[in-house]
Amino acid sequence: MKILVINGPNINMLGLREPGIYGSGTYEALLSFVRSVCEKEGIEVSFFQSNHEGDIVDCIQKAYGEQDGIVINPAAYTHTSIAILDALKAVSIPAVEVHISDVKSREDFRQVSYAGRVCVRTYMGLGFDGYKEAVLFLKQYLNNGV
Ligand code: DQA
Repeated sequence: MKILVINGPNINMLGLREPGIYGSGTYEALLSFVRSVCEKEGIEVSFFQSNHEGDIVDCIQKAYGEQDGIVINPAAYTHTSIAILDALKAVSIPAVEVHISDVKSREDFRQVSYAGRVCVRTYMGLGFDGYKEAVLFLKQYLNNGV
């Protein structure tokens, strides 16, 4: 089973970025955390992070025929990007949305999620553990279809 983990803008700044909201763990720490979860679960994982919307669209398109599932934190593009939503629809790869913070309890402008409309599940407010939950859910979903 192959899972692609996509992170959007400013996720590479974890650790430095608003630690009161996103915690003190770095992006590299997030990668090794997810890598160790996937290793344990027998999942082949790859990672992509970009601050550019079109690069994320390209990455999703390239996943077609290559990846079984996608874990995506589109970051700020969650709330603006129809292009990322359309790319996820185009490839039809089961995707799970993750947000480190609890976006539901934040500003009004964060209350819309475009990508979330096509994702089979969303985890938010769990910190790095949201990625673990997403991987575990996706494994079960891909194996059993639920
Ligand atoms: C985020 C929440 C978004 O609203 C924000 O723009 C981010 C990170 C999260 O992981 O909590 O960059 O997706």
